[in-house]
Amino acid sequence: MSVAAFPGSVHVRAPGKINVYLGVGDRHEDGYHALATVFQAVSLYEDVYATDSDEFTLSVSGVEDVDSVPMDDRNLAMRAAKMLAAATGFEGGVHLELRKSVPVAGGMGGGSADAAAALVACDALWGTAVPPHRLHELAARLGADVPFALHGGTAVGTGRGDQLNPALARGRFDWVLVTSDEGLSTPAIYARLDAHRSESGALADDPPMSLEVPIPVLQALRAGDPHSLAACMFNDLEVSALLERPSLDDVIAEGLHAGALSGIVSGSGPTVAFLCETPESAQYVQSELQDAGRAALHVHGPVPGARIIA
Ligand code: C5P
Repeated sequence: MSVAAFPGSVHVRAPGKINVYLGVGDRHEDGYHALATVFQAVSLYEDVYATDSDEFTLSVSGVEDVDSVPMDDRNLAMRAAKMLAAATGFEGGVHLELRKSVPVAGGMGGGSADAAAALVACDALWGTAVPPHRLHELAARLGADVPFALHGGTAVGTGRGDQLNPALARGRFDWVLVTSDEGLSTPAIYARLDAHRSESGALADDPPMSLEVPIPVLQALRAGDPHSLAACMFNDLEVSALLERPSLDDVIAEGLHAGALSGIVSGSGPTVAFLCETPESAQYVQSELQDAGRAALHVHGPVPGARIIA
């Protein structure tokens, strides 16, 4: 029997992410699309507290609409804990307390961060000492974005987004996030992209898309140059998020007017991420957007992935 390294309770913090670049290819038979993406973890976190228990139980705080977070086995953190128990033969349970700051269904991987944090927290609490590559495998089974929430930093994601290679990023990038009260469904946004492409004949007529992250994106990150990065940020899902939520166009225009270098829909949306030149300009953009009645947050990246907080 292994001995729990952290008796009682473990606190793990995991970051939300922005897709600085998101190229979407064809839909495979398993329903997932081939991706070429660059993730950056940003300083907006999910805090997960794992406490000894005989049962598997869950509590959630930090969300306005409690019904927006599933409290049963559909909850990704709960699934992560049960998957780890099954994989390691651990026979007890855990109480997971999720303190959420990443918007629910916001395109920033909040649920994936919960799952990554739950894996790390339960592994420490139970003393199961699962090696990193095995934790990565479990993460990938839970969802395409979960491995990145484990690793954090800046990384290129291929496959379903779960095959990661670290990308060099110098310095820090300042982002302003505009969040929405009502989330968007990720599967619905992917399905809308497929429909849009087949209606416009986009993929049928064109030669197969080359699914690679463009070199200028990687160069801009390596140079730590927000101007160069702003010029090549891109998200294939933006067209479908805008079809689903046309008002996001106004948000993007407002942020650019306030002085952001560039603004894109984050992942499947509806969060909009604005890249700013400096921390000071981000503060200015944030306050202009708040004055216009928007929910705007100033964050920075890259930050580390899921970590135990002492
Ligand atoms: O992996 P995750 O559960 O986060 O994915 C949610 C949904 O997003 C999937 O069920 C699928 O509809 C869509 N998706 C996709 N291709 C990807 C990642 C996600 O179609 N590479």
